Amino acid sequence: MSQDRIAFIGAGNMATSLIGGLLATGRTPDSITAADPDPAQLTRVGELGIMTTQDNAKAVADAAVVVLAVKPQVVRTVVADLADRLNAAQLLLSIAAGVPVGAITRWAGAPLGVVRCMPNTPALFGAGMAAMFANEYVTPQQRAYATGIAEAVGDVVWVDTEAEIDAVTAVSGSGPAYFFYLMEAMIAAGIDLGLDPETARRLTLQTARGAALMAIQSDATPAQLRRNVTSPGGTTEAALNIFESNGLAATIRDALVAAARRSQELAVELGSPQPAATTRRKKME
Ligand SMILES: NC(=O)c1ccc[n+]([C@@H]2O[C@H](COP(=O)([O-])OP(=O)(O)OC[C@H]3O[C@@H](n4cnc5c(N)ncnc54)[C@H](OP(=O)(O)O)[C@@H]3O)[C@@H](O)[C@H]2O)c1
Repeated sequence: MSQDRIAFIGAGNMATSLIGGLLATGRTPDSITAADPDPAQLTRVGELGIMTTQDNAKAVADAAVVVLAVKPQVVRTVVADLADRLNAAQLLLSIAAGVPVGAITRWAGAPLGVVRCMPNTPALFGAGMAAMFANEYVTPQQRAYATGIAEAVGDVVWVDTEAEIDAVTAVSGSGPAYFFYLMEAMIAAGIDLGLDPETARRLTLQTARGAALMAIQSDATPAQLRRNVTSPGGTTEAALNIFESNGLAATIRDALVAAARRSQELAVELGSPQPAATTRRKKME
């Protein structure tokens, strides 16, 4: 078996982005295979020069790493169908949101090395933030492999417990939407203050980019950076005082707690012995 082959099961947005990142960081196209039932997806991803197939079993045949890049509800069927094709030397790297590692090994029917990765949408632009959790069967070499794959589209952290993935989902998984929400609100406020929509949009987005760059590249914490730009009696302080008196920090905390709780619920639903759709139907009865 080649030690170096990667098979993607599901050739949608996330897989295409990961494959693009891997090729851009030096991996050869002939070491990557993508499988998907949709010929249009295969044509699209095939333009990157990689091998494609509609047959998942064929794709995993000599792969060192099998990336599960299908929708969460499909993981169960995909893994169960591949169960007798997978071997103990292969790493399963799942990027499916909410699907627990234990469910994947149960569906595979064997103690396989599984890494659960929680990426986020900016990975589609090479600026992702992913967190990964490995089960006890994953070797150090496979960890390094998984890190390399996720790093092709952004930054990566490892967590020690799977429960932390719920917190990760609340912070970075759902996080892009919180910043989009803030951007929406700032653009709307700028328009209310008399700016034309395009000017309000440009001011807001470039400010978000600049603030993110400063926070990433500076040694100072976000709290210190905020204090540095907040003069006593000034305009920034006037705005931040409103955030404080309206309890914005507490609202953000409540929001992330709700996201983490929903992540736990989804993991139970997606990892249940029954298909997720059945579980949902039963709950409604
Ligand atoms: N996009 C994100 O920003 C993001 C962020 C975090 C996590 N994720 C996770 O990444 C995973 C993929 O997301 P995505 O946005 O890339 O989804 P996507 O664009 O819908 O891609 C999934 C692909 O899998 C294909 N597929 C369906 N059934 C299959 C099967 N049995 N075997 C092989 N392929 C099959 C789908 O084909 P059809 O279209 O024909 O069904 C589709 O092309 C999801 O589990 C999601 O939770 C995504």
